[in-house]
Order: sequence, then structure tokens, then C-alpha cells
Amino acid sequence: MRAVSANLLALLFLCTCASVLYVWSRLERYNTGLQITSRGSAHIGPSPDLSAKTFRALLAVPGAQRLHLGGILDAHNLTGVADQTGSLGIRDYHMNVDNKGSARRGVPDKLGSPVEGIFWSEWLEDKFPVSFSEEHARAWRGRARGHRIVRLEPGCGRISNQLATFSDRSKACVRYGINADQVQGETLTYYLASLLGITNLPPLILAQLNVDSEQWASVRRRIGGLQWSERAVVSLTQWVANLTGVITPAPLRQESKGLRPLRWELGNKTTAELLELMQWTDLIILDYLSANFDRLVSNLFSLQWDSRVMERETNNLLRTPRGDLVFIDNEAGLVHGYRVLDMWEKYHSTVLDSVCVFRKRTVQRVIELHRRRDTRTRLLELYRDSEPLSPELGFLSDEHAGVLQSRINRLYKHILHCKVKYHQLGV
Ligand SMILES: Nc1ncnc2c1ncn2[C@@H]1O[C@H](COP(=O)(O)OP(=O)(O)OP(=O)(O)O)[C@@H](O)[C@H]1O
Ligand SMILES: [Mg+2]
Repeated sequence: MRAVSANLLALLFLCTCASVLYVWSRLERYNTGLQITSRGSAHIGPSPDLSAKTFRALLAVPGAQRLHLGGILDAHNLTGVADQTGSLGIRDYHMNVDNKGSARRGVPDKLGSPVEGIFWSEWLEDKFPVSFSEEHARAWRGRARGHRIVRLEPGCGRISNQLATFSDRSKACVRYGINADQVQGETLTYYLASLLGITNLPPLILAQLNVDSEQWASVRRRIGGLQWSERAVVSLTQWVANLTGVITPAPLRQESKGLRPLRWELGNKTTAELLELMQWTDLIILDYLSANFDRLVSNLFSLQWDSRVMERETNNLLRTPRGDLVFIDNEAGLVHGYRVLDMWEKYHSTVLDSVCVFRKRTVQRVIELHRRRDTRTRLLELYRDSEPLSPELGFLSDEHAGVLQSRINRLYKHILHCKVKYHQLGV
């Protein structure tokens, strides 16, 4: 009898323990869920980051896919858009972000609306940050070409990218492409951004590996270990300290109605938020033109299996402490991106169509490129004039240059559509 009671007691004790454990584990899961929701970002549970692997693998796909050229647009009456940008001169923008003002919710009355028609307002343009000015880029390129590389180490992503230290102690990310397409994509996207006046890409130079040259001799052994081929052309981009990740802002997420020039939607944003959105509108234009899928577009694609991907940091996009967005790793642009357009175009279009607010200055450049139909010539001239190694690396094929011009035209048509749509709405 005593033995039976003891067994019963032991059983009762075990049941109690199991119940406590069960309740505790449920509470733990509930708490984790709450934390995720309230942070609304960063790391979300155990869901694997499939996207990065997928896109890295895609970059390695040899490009024999049929090109999607899109339609060359019919001539449109440009006057409307041109009128809105006509008064815009090309001027230097200076970093002038009022951090105290930025922290305040809403736009101060005296500054007025954040938008004028489909454009960000002039007062916002006056505060718009110039991340890497032309002068800065030119000076950096001169210095980078003139200094020896004294150290190569990890610190710029995957192993084929290396953090280089120059003899003056400044740093750069060296990107060694698995094929020339990647280095071309990185380099030509940088110059396309320059042509559009987009300053968010760190300055870039090309260099040719030659362990007997003064530039590389100090890192000869390291280069041997990395198995980089002699004479390969690599890109070097300025390394920037203290960068942090960036989450896609709400108006650009799939559940939103997009970024529209509506005062009542934008009027509640802080100046800092508006300045960031402005940079996003340039980013979307650049990624559309270059067909770079390795940023916002890849997130859209990943939504199929990862519903919370937008709550995580965007690939290849970083932010400086003062709020400038830095567009890194553009190697999918222009060359590889055009090769795989068949697969990505619907996502590129979805992202572009979600934006109807633009920077006047960027649109002015798009209008010029559309009118003159000379994007290839201007890009080639800028690249040749700025980069001594351009003959070694080569340029876009005629076919890809045609794709670029057709994307300029499609972008132009979209801007026109936004103008008509929001003009009709009395915006
Ligand atoms: N110019 C730069 N300045 C500072 N840090 C940089 C720069 N470029 C890259 N990095 C750092 O290296 C990381 C990876 O960069 P990048 O995307 O160029 O390489 P990757 O090999 O494609 O990596 P991933 O596959 O993670 O995208 C960035 O998140 C950043 O931390
Ligand atoms: Mg990357």
C-alpha cells in the first residue's frame, strides 16, 4: 500500500512538473512574439535568410538569357514635366541637416508642404545631404590611385571582397568579381549614378592586380592566399566607418499604397524621415534603371517564402550616423541585372510603380537623357574620362546600352503618368 502511495505521489509530482514546464514554454514563446512585434525589425526568429543565398547563387548564373528590351516609347508631350523642372539649375547641394528640427514630429508650418506637385519641396532639397560630392570623389580617387595597399583582410563581406588599408591608413573595399560582369556592373552603376547626380555611392576606382607593382607588392602573399588571378581588374570603393543597417520605410512596403505626393500622408513625417525618403526615391530610380535586383526588389521576391523580410535590414544598403544612405555592392546592376531581366522585370516594375514622388534634380537629368537619347554616349564619356582602366574592363554591349535607354524611357513615362494622375487629383 505504502509502495502504491509512493508511486502515486511520484506520478503526481511528475505531472505537476510537466504542466509547469508546458505553461512556462508557452509563456516564453508568447514573450518572444511580443518582442518581435514591438521591435518590428532585425532578427525575426529562426527563419533562415534564404534571400542572400539565393541572390549570391543567381549572380553566378551565366548570362545567356533572352533580354527583355521593353518598348521604346512614343514621343510624348513633355512640356508638363519639363515645366515643373524647367526652373531647376544644376547646383551644388550642401549637407545641412538640422538634427534638432528632424527629431520633431511633423513638418514645421513655416516650411510648408513636403511636396510640390510630384516633387519633393525646395526647402527639403535645401537640406538634402550630399553624401559623396564630386569634389570629394575626385580627390579620393586621386589619393587611392597614389597610395600603396599595405594590408588586406576580411571586413567587406564575402571572402572575395577584402578590406584594404592604404599606406596613408585610409581604407577601401576591394571587390574581386568571379567574372568581369560583376566589376563592370559595380563600376558602371557608379558612373550612371554620377550621371544622374546621385551621390550616395562611395567613390570607386579600378585597379589591376600585379604583385610586382608598387601598389600591390606589400600584399603579395595575401593575394596568393586569396587565389586572385594576376592582371584581374578589381574595384576599390571608399570604406566608410560606423555604417548601420536600414529597414525599408513603411510607405515602400508591400502592404502600403506606395509613396504618393499627398500632403496628408507625408505631413506627419519628421524632416529626417522625409530626407531619408528622398534618398529612397533616388535609390528606386537607380535600381530600376540598372535593373539591380539585389536590394529592395530581392526583398519583394523573397516575400513569397518569407513574409517578414521587409522588417529586416535591406541588402546592400547602409546608413551613416548623420542619416545619409550609402548604396553599396552594385555589382548586380546593368550587366547581370539585364541578363536576368525576364525573371525580375515584374518586381522592378512593381517597385517603380509604387513611387510617385521624385527629386526635381534627378528627374531633370532623366528628362535630358530621354530627350537626347544619348545615355550610352554620356555614360561612356564620363567613364572613360574618369577611369584610366576603362579600356581594360570594357563597357556595355550595344544591346545592353539599348536596354538602358529603353529603361530611361519607361521611367520617363512613369513620371509623366504620376504627374497626370496627381494633377487630376488636384495635388
Ligand atoms: N564601402 C564600405 N564601407 C564600409 N563598410 C562596407 C563597405 N562595403 C561593404 N562594407 C561592409 O561589408 C558588408 C558586406 O558588403 P557587400 O554587400 O559589399 O559584400 P557581400 O559579399 O555582397 O556581402 P553580402 O553577401 O552580405 O551582401 C556590409 O554590410 C558592410 O558591413
Ligand atoms: Mg552584398
